[in-house]
Amino acid sequence: MAKSHPVRRIGILTGGGDCPGLNAVIRGVTKPAHDQGLHVWGIYDGFEGFVEGRGNPLYSKDVSGILARGGTILGSSNKGDPFHWPEEVDDEIRIVDRSERVMMNYEAWDLDAIIAIGGDGTMHIANKLSKMGMNVVGVPKTIDNDLDATDVTFGHYSAVWVVSEALDRLHTTASSHHRVMVLETMGRYAGWIALHGGIAGGADIILLPEFPFEWDAVYERVLQRHAQGKKFSIVCVAEGAKPKGGKMVVKGSDKKRTDPIQLGGIAEVVAKQIEEGTGLETRYTVLGHLQRGGSPTPYDRILSTKFGTYAIELAMKKKFGRMVSLKGSSITSVKIEDAIDKQKLVSASGQTVQAAKAVGVTFGVKDF
Ligand code: F6P
Repeated sequence: MAKSHPVRRIGILTGGGDCPGLNAVIRGVTKPAHDQGLHVWGIYDGFEGFVEGRGNPLYSKDVSGILARGGTILGSSNKGDPFHWPEEVDDEIRIVDRSERVMMNYEAWDLDAIIAIGGDGTMHIANKLSKMGMNVVGVPKTIDNDLDATDVTFGHYSAVWVVSEALDRLHTTASSHHRVMVLETMGRYAGWIALHGGIAGGADIILLPEFPFEWDAVYERVLQRHAQGKKFSIVCVAEGAKPKGGKMVVKGSDKKRTDPIQLGGIAEVVAKQIEEGTGLETRYTVLGHLQRGGSPTPYDRILSTKFGTYAIELAMKKKFGRMVSLKGSSITSVKIEDAIDKQKLVSASGQTVQAAKAVGVTFGVKDF
């Protein structure tokens, strides 16, 4: 709502899947806000708590000691889209619009603005609420790093660290047992976690959603290494990767979510095929939520702190409808409506893919 007085009361929420650095952003918003005499209102479990009217003041003591803590002290949910609200009626799930309740609670809590920390889903909701008159500032989060409007989202490099660490550990069994080891990462439709993690962990083969792979090219690389006396191979596969002409492996579907698809299971398929196609013993590991848990890396703690402090600055200057973003080495902001629906995908001609190829990584695509 257009309020002429200075910003006094700020709501803050974390939406979508958790990721390392959320607490560092909450701290980055709350500490300077208190220093400027603002009241901070924590909204629980993302937009779910906004619809249901669940929130409380966030005091300085609440954000003390949370910089290095994983997850989010506010809780999060990826089922709380007010415009796609799942309501259970007679054992059936009906999707209804509950955005008016959010607007009501915004008024009832007497908020001047909210800071919404989340990924593409959260930014979509933020954009719609902003069009309904709410003052919103967005902070981009996702381990997937797939938002085009920012060079990096916080949480991504913490996930990459986990992948790299896992690959280091898998190397020891791979080389001792002369096996092929396959590691599945998250990332949904973007391959950034597998690409960055795979390079950092020295993977020989990286399979990404952006480049549908050919089985023959994968076998060839494994057998070539074997023939060179390298009796093991490490494969890093993104959950969204698929063979040419094939489909992504889906492990489930949840109607309550805006994007109901739950990916997972490609590593098992890849491991089985490699064993059959090469005759070499192969094992697979699915990293799953280990990539989202635990403490943020120092890089993510710094990025989150910069994002949080910039977000509160934007709010105090009444620069609403904008999302904080990293461009080069500077923190800046973009219009939320320009940030949504623009996915950042791995490009074959990008420097990272080129560097990987130069050190012998195969992407499972011939003539690539
Ligand atoms: O978007 C973050 C992410 O971790 C994806 O990489 C993954 O596909 C998805 O969330 C998993 O979601 P959930 O925790 O709901 O299973």
